[in-house]
Amino acid sequence: MKKKFLLARDTSEINLPRASDDTSDIVLNIYRGGPNQKPENSYDSYRVPVSRWTTVLDALIYAKERLDSSVAIRYSCRMASCGSCGMKINGIPRLACYTKISELGTHTITCEPLPNFPLIRDLVTDFQEFFDHHKKIQPYIQNLHPDPSIDKLSEFEQTPQQVDEFLQFSYCIKCGLCYSACPTVATDTKFPGPQALAQAYRYFADSRDDAVEKRLSIVDDKHGIWRCHFAGSCSKVCPKGVDPALGIQMLRSHMMSITKKPKKRLAELRETSREGS
Ligand code: SF4
Ligand code: FES
Repeated sequence: MKKKFLLARDTSEINLPRASDDTSDIVLNIYRGGPNQKPENSYDSYRVPVSRWTTVLDALIYAKERLDSSVAIRYSCRMASCGSCGMKINGIPRLACYTKISELGTHTITCEPLPNFPLIRDLVTDFQEFFDHHKKIQPYIQNLHPDPSIDKLSEFEQTPQQVDEFLQFSYCIKCGLCYSACPTVATDTKFPGPQALAQAYRYFADSRDDAVEKRLSIVDDKHGIWRCHFAGSCSKVCPKGVDPALGIQMLRSHMMSITKKPKKRLAELRETSREGS
């Protein structure tokens, strides 16, 4: 790691309110650079005062506001809801706003952009491809019974048990941490990735949805669900307990249970669906 210790100024000069007696300083290393960065990485380091509850995002905002305004970071909600502050923190994809410095057990914090995403600058990555994969699985309920164009006030009733079938997967905030941790995405950018595949299962498992065949045929592709080899790293890094690996496994086991030749069976399903329309 090529380090530039540019702005480690004496924090005793900074007139901060001290949150408690256990306030201490950390060294915050931030990856600096854009898409055309040379292979050798470049980091800037900042000395930042933190207390027990300081998050990595708080430390980054401190560095940006008081030490170096050129640092590029992205965030919004600061409460693990919007999914925009994902980055690699001490080697692991995490949400900066959901990671307390104290839980990392070190005074040296290194922040890097998420892997598997094109870099825009510093810690900000381009989510276009990730969202394209998400859109491709048609992440919305498709139900024509009753036809909402005829009965606009119709309700889609569900039992608590039916809600349980997909609820866990609906907690996804599209932060991209699972996508960045996925070894298959790293080698095949056409692979939808754990987020999109888990959402395919979320809508597949929803009793209100009628687009079962369509959903299965979208993921049943040579770059699709069969490319997952269950590394499980997606579920380890998910901050919302979605467990995308479980969703992929459930969807895949359903497809395998249709027949030992799922492609043939899906072709039949498509044929049946054409005949019915
Ligand atoms: S599944 Fe988890 S890690 Fe992946 S995008 Fe959704 S919330 Fe983030
Ligand atoms: S700022 Fe919204 S999830 Fe971290």
